[in-house]
Amino acid sequence: MVKKTLVAAAAISLSTFALSSCGSSSGADSGSDSNDGTITMGFAQVGAESGWRTANTKSIQDTAKAEGVDLKFTDAQGKQENQIQAIRSYIQQKVDVIAFSPVVETGFDAVLQEAKAANIPVILTDRAVDADPSLYKTFLGSDFVVEGEKAGDWLVENAKDADVDGDGTVNVVQLEGTTGAAPAIDRAEGFAEKIKADDSIEITASQTGDFTRDGGKQVMESFLQSDDSIDVVFAHNDDMGLGAIEAIEAAGLEPGKDIKIITIDAVKDGMQALADGKINYIVECNPLLGPQLMDLAKKVLDGEEVPARVLTDETAFTQEDAKAALPDRQY
Ligand code: AHR
Repeated sequence: MVKKTLVAAAAISLSTFALSSCGSSSGADSGSDSNDGTITMGFAQVGAESGWRTANTKSIQDTAKAEGVDLKFTDAQGKQENQIQAIRSYIQQKVDVIAFSPVVETGFDAVLQEAKAANIPVILTDRAVDADPSLYKTFLGSDFVVEGEKAGDWLVENAKDADVDGDGTVNVVQLEGTTGAAPAIDRAEGFAEKIKADDSIEITASQTGDFTRDGGKQVMESFLQSDDSIDVVFAHNDDMGLGAIEAIEAAGLEPGKDIKIITIDAVKDGMQALADGKINYIVECNPLLGPQLMDLAKKVLDGEEVPARVLTDETAFTQEDAKAALPDRQY
């Protein structure tokens, strides 16, 4: 897979853009028409599907404002076609730099080619695409495979406790993120790889809840209707885990005890549920990408070298950790 090769390669990407092109057309034959030195960034966001996404959008908007970046922002409402349309409109508007968090991994090749032909650098934010790495300058975001691995490791370490009905098998249901999205693919991969270490752990059902609370609730309701031996829920984000909690409680069961729950993100609502004992473990995915994104954009436009892959720092939380971290949690 091209993406995996890229991550491993960690090559250095060089922009041909000079700083003077941030707002003028000098040097490169494209860029914003303004000439006051202001950077114009077009950002095509996935949508507003989760608490994580809301925090991510706020971080990008607040940082752009604080740093005087003219941000043109589009919410693609979870649809790839809207995102591609937004990127095309940024190309037409001759923004200085385009950033986006791809709804899914594939299908962006043509529009990335168009941006390249227009000499507008592209920065991938949060999620990767499976495309020729020369079509974008850098990719800023989490390692989703590692996030899935952390979740799997925790389950392996706590397998005995997680076998709630004591039948010798840890039956796991998985609430997947949006089908085809990098975090859904990679988290499932990392988790599956790690749980291989314990034969008693088995994924008995796996279905998308589209990263939404409602989606998580609906899928969990149907899992509960067809299976009364569920020991563990692995949800690819907090929101789906929170939806699953609602479904579990409605079924007369106690989340965190009768069914263990592992999620990813660590947004405030998730952390509160963890501190309350309704979730058992959360792997952090940091949404506060605004400062790093603006910094990378400036460097790229300045012609500075930037790494092909910029990772974010992340941790994981137990119930005790959540109680300690909650008072200072920003999102
Ligand atoms: O791409 C990051 C993922 O997208 C987050 O984990 C999830 O909450 C969001 O919707």
